[in-house]
Amino acid sequence: MKLLEAVVREMQMGVVVIDRDKQILYSNPFFEKTFLTVGSIEGKKFSDILNEAALIGSINKVFTSDANKSCEITIRGKGNQILEVRLVPFSIESDSGVDNSKVIIGFFQDVTEEKKVEEIKRDFVANVSHELRTPLASIKGYAETLLDGALDDKVTLKKFLNIIDRHANRMTALIEDLLTLSKLESHQMPMAFEPLDIKNIISGVIQGCEKQAKDKGIEIVIDITDGEIPKVMGDKGRLEQVVVNLVDNAIKYTNDGVVKVVAKKLDNILKVDIEDTGIGIPEKDIARIFERFYRVDKGRSRELGGTGLGLAIVKHIIQGHNGKIWVESQLGKGTTFSFTLPL
Ligand SMILES: Nc1ncnc2c1ncn2[C@@H]1O[C@H](COP(=O)(O)OP(=O)(O)OP(=O)(O)O)[C@@H](O)[C@H]1O
Ligand SMILES: [Mg+2]
Repeated sequence: MKLLEAVVREMQMGVVVIDRDKQILYSNPFFEKTFLTVGSIEGKKFSDILNEAALIGSINKVFTSDANKSCEITIRGKGNQILEVRLVPFSIESDSGVDNSKVIIGFFQDVTEEKKVEEIKRDFVANVSHELRTPLASIKGYAETLLDGALDDKVTLKKFLNIIDRHANRMTALIEDLLTLSKLESHQMPMAFEPLDIKNIISGVIQGCEKQAKDKGIEIVIDITDGEIPKVMGDKGRLEQVVVNLVDNAIKYTNDGVVKVVAKKLDNILKVDIEDTGIGIPEKDIARIFERFYRVDKGRSRELGGTGLGLAIVKHIIQGHNGKIWVESQLGKGTTFSFTLPL
């Protein structure tokens, strides 16, 4: 008996026993931790602790039904958790062996995390399908128009083929990003750490983005004090990807002005800021900006060729380097993404 008591006490699931008067006869610590807001459970009625109409209804049903059938129900907990509840009727035998009183054993399982993961999965599949369908529909549309006769017009032919090519590139980029993310998440992409000069990485990336910036009339400034920063341990390709993604965003979401990349040493960490004087990010979106596929303005981002995976990848890479990343932004004034890496 002692052993069974210990098992129930240690279960990471709420267990409660109630009698016909809905008096609580027993509850395990998990149940009390989840539902008891003040005082002790002793002498309390079940409805003092949990007064969910649907749950009370189910309890009544189990008590009044003659069939010894258990019942399952999903409810919301006080902290908005999702709880799956199983109510099992049980007849307590008296010493004389006669069944005289029925109780209910209730099991409360917190399934909030599972539900969240399910939802993320569902959203993810919906997002991927949608992102693939858009360019695919264009490719199909233009190909059909060509097959319908536009093929004979050389100028139109070239124009349409260019569009098809652009959409195919978009799909390739999306699939590449998805593969990168999936590998990062399943740790299939081991990072090759080596001592790196962050200044080299930044200036290499900036060189590659110069044309894109110039076309928009944006000036890129690097601010790194020579010789101040020791080498940092990191994966070169991945850190380049981080800087590319952040600088690319800074340019994409700035209409005119300056993009500034600052790197400095603080105690034993390296801090890099990518500042822009662009459109900024609304306060309400900041918390979600690193989520996969999250974009402030889906239409605008898509027009610019974005899929909303860039920052999710960046965050994974920085975390894989034991670093931190965050963002500060003022709508209409500009944005600063900052990351740190241990030195
Ligand atoms: N510097 C910035 N200024 C303003 N908004 C930004 C900035 N960087 C990111 N954002 C916002 O965050 C969203 C997510 O950025 P992220 O880089 O993940 O995706 P994206 O740029 O839309 O697409 P891609 O996958 O091509 O990078 C963007 O759509 C944009 O709304
Ligand atoms: Mg981006």
